[in-house]
Amino acid sequence: MREPYHLLPEVTVGCAGNSCKPQPTFPAPEEPDISHIDQSAELAGVILKNPVVVASGTFGFGREYGQFFDLSQLGGICCKGITLYPREGNPAPRIAETPMGILNSVGLQNPGVDTFIEHELPFLRQYDVRVIANISGNSPEEYGEMCEKLSAAGVDMIEVNISCPNVKAGGLAYGTRPDLAAEVTKMARSHASVPVMVKLSPNVTDITEIARAVADAGADALSLINTLRGMRIDVNTRRPILKMNTGGLSGPAVLPIAVRMVWEVANAVSLPILGIGGVSTGEDAAQLMLAGASAVAVGTALFADPYSPLKVRDGLAEIAARQSLTAVRELTGGAQPW
Ligand SMILES: Cc1cc2nc3c(=O)[nH]c(=O)nc-3n(C[C@H](O)[C@H](O)[C@H](O)COP(=O)(O)O)c2cc1C
Repeated sequence: MREPYHLLPEVTVGCAGNSCKPQPTFPAPEEPDISHIDQSAELAGVILKNPVVVASGTFGFGREYGQFFDLSQLGGICCKGITLYPREGNPAPRIAETPMGILNSVGLQNPGVDTFIEHELPFLRQYDVRVIANISGNSPEEYGEMCEKLSAAGVDMIEVNISCPNVKAGGLAYGTRPDLAAEVTKMARSHASVPVMVKLSPNVTDITEIARAVADAGADALSLINTLRGMRIDVNTRRPILKMNTGGLSGPAVLPIAVRMVWEVANAVSLPILGIGGVSTGEDAAQLMLAGASAVAVGTALFADPYSPLKVRDGLAEIAARQSLTAVRELTGGAQPW
């Protein structure tokens, strides 16, 4: 991942190979005191102890990462996308590295909503952390059925994925057509007794059009962005690297797109926003918040550093402290356009 700061050219002069380690000629910035900073955040009435959640599909159901740190330190966990019935996902290879990111075509591999409720939710409920269930359906009715089951099971929030580029049925089609996006939102909202957050696709010409349709249909919050459709080709075999040929791009490469889209959506609708896309530092997260996000999600960065959400959380608080704020949430919507 990125260096905390770049070495000046003169620092490395005279160092051959690894024989002498370059010494920084300037001190690292002092870490400010963050003990007085209020880190809490709110998404559609759901209070998070800090604004950092983990992005759906990059954290499973928390079991593996629970070996690295106490999950109660997170603001929230967006679970791996679940469907009404179990899915095996797409054939491998389904992950490929790219400059500053990855392409994936996992295709919503998951055990189905009933197994999630029976086996995964009780595990997550051991922690003091907000649990956000992420759902995908083949029809509006499937979204409705899952919302009913998950509300009864006691999740804190439901993230409605209408933006997965890696599945044939439903998936992206719902997220690229305002009428279908609205239909799914209405169905989810009418069957859920917890807040419904709709996850938007960046694979559209005008994301505000979908955001408005979903807001009018009753969404309580929006999350954005999901991955951008991309492709890599092996020049020797002339085969795409991914078995599905194309996949979804995520990671640091997509951050500026996410910031731009959060900015546009925040100016178009008045719903709270979970900003997602390429976050790996507190500064990245602060950009999304300044653009209008109330909270942020960390995804692909977890694959390089499992502690990245905690570093993002502390980084955000440090930025707030340096800017003499009393609460991280004061960053939300604070960008000053030219
Ligand atoms: C391997 C992988 C699996 C993903 N699975 C899901 C999913 O099941 N549901 C969903 O809404 N988003 C899914 N996403 C999208 C992420 O939640 C996130 O929106 C996207 O990766 C951008 O954030 P990032 O750059 O921080 O990873 C997945 C992303 C990756 C990399």
